[in-house]
Amino acid sequence: MPAPIILAIESSCDETAAAVIDRDLNALSNVVASQTDLHERFGGVVPEIASRAHVQKILPIIDEALKQANAKLSDLTAIAVVTEPGLVGSLLVGLTAAKTLAWSMNLPLIAVNHIEAHIYACRMAAGRDIFPAVGLVVSGGHSNLYTCQSALDFELLGSTIDDAAGEAFDKVAQLLNLGFPGGPAVERAAKKGDPKAVRFPRTFLKDKRLDFSFSGLKTAVLYEARGNPGSHRPVPELTEQRVYDLAASFQEAAVDVLVGKSEQALTETGTNVLCVGGGVAANGRLREQLSEMSNRTGAEVIIAPMEFCTDNAAMAGIAWELYDAGRFAELDVDVTPGLVRRPR
Ligand code: KG4
Ligand code: ZN
Repeated sequence: MPAPIILAIESSCDETAAAVIDRDLNALSNVVASQTDLHERFGGVVPEIASRAHVQKILPIIDEALKQANAKLSDLTAIAVVTEPGLVGSLLVGLTAAKTLAWSMNLPLIAVNHIEAHIYACRMAAGRDIFPAVGLVVSGGHSNLYTCQSALDFELLGSTIDDAAGEAFDKVAQLLNLGFPGGPAVERAAKKGDPKAVRFPRTFLKDKRLDFSFSGLKTAVLYEARGNPGSHRPVPELTEQRVYDLAASFQEAAVDVLVGKSEQALTETGTNVLCVGGGVAANGRLREQLSEMSNRTGAEVIIAPMEFCTDNAAMAGIAWELYDAGRFAELDVDVTPGLVRRPR
């Protein structure tokens, strides 16, 4: 009898990913095909291009994940798939593949929430139970704070009212001509700049609610870079150094807000553990500031390891929690593209 293993499939945005995860939450394989080169010239993810690329990649990626884990379809215990939130066409490709495999192999199907999986990446990295915790998920599509009583009980505390943090990094990179994806490009430029050069707004930092807003920050960077059409105030020439300074000042403002709101969420919920996941969690300055906050407050901060920050299927290891709780999906389960604000 082979050891129990789950095949997890992730296709919610622009990464086609599959992983095989064992009962001890070890990723026996974790294969990710990124579509960055397809979307680069558009400066953002084009949904139709993303879905078509998923269709081409999904079966080879599943095959590769099984091969690297030295597993056959007949060895699987269950099929897990991310069904929410994400791009509808992209999610449907993964879900259709997962349903087909579950039906043909007569295996249970498990529906995974992508955001919860980002938080669960911290649990997998910690190798022990870390809940109750506050979860911060900062990615290209989301900036959400959760209270996580257990791996099966996530409640949304707040989210962005406009752009996501990663989206702001991507847009700022685009307007400063730094490249795509924007996060790593802004981080590289920021290393050569002065974070105090421009004092950008820290939206909602002093506000009682636990929401984020990054649209005003992005516009403020635009005005500092190219001038404000509604004002006659001249802006300095956009030299190479000025680009670095704007990148550093923007990053500092975004990080201040993410760390400040996380600390506020810990205080308000009386929680002492913060889990941070999602693509922006790969940002070095954010990691540095979180560790400073941890030293200052005594809160434990668990940040997903770099390879589990950006989208991957291994983080869908949360499926084992759902498996143990008997939370299986029917074969008529649909995708849910939007963020659901329900307590779970
Ligand atoms: O979690 P993820 O791979 O995909 C979504 O679920 O959206 O996150 C991608 C986002 C992009 O916006 C990217 O620019 C951002 O994460 N990102 C970063 C860094 N690496 C990736 N943002 C800031 N600093 C980074 N080093
Ligand atoms: Zn993600």
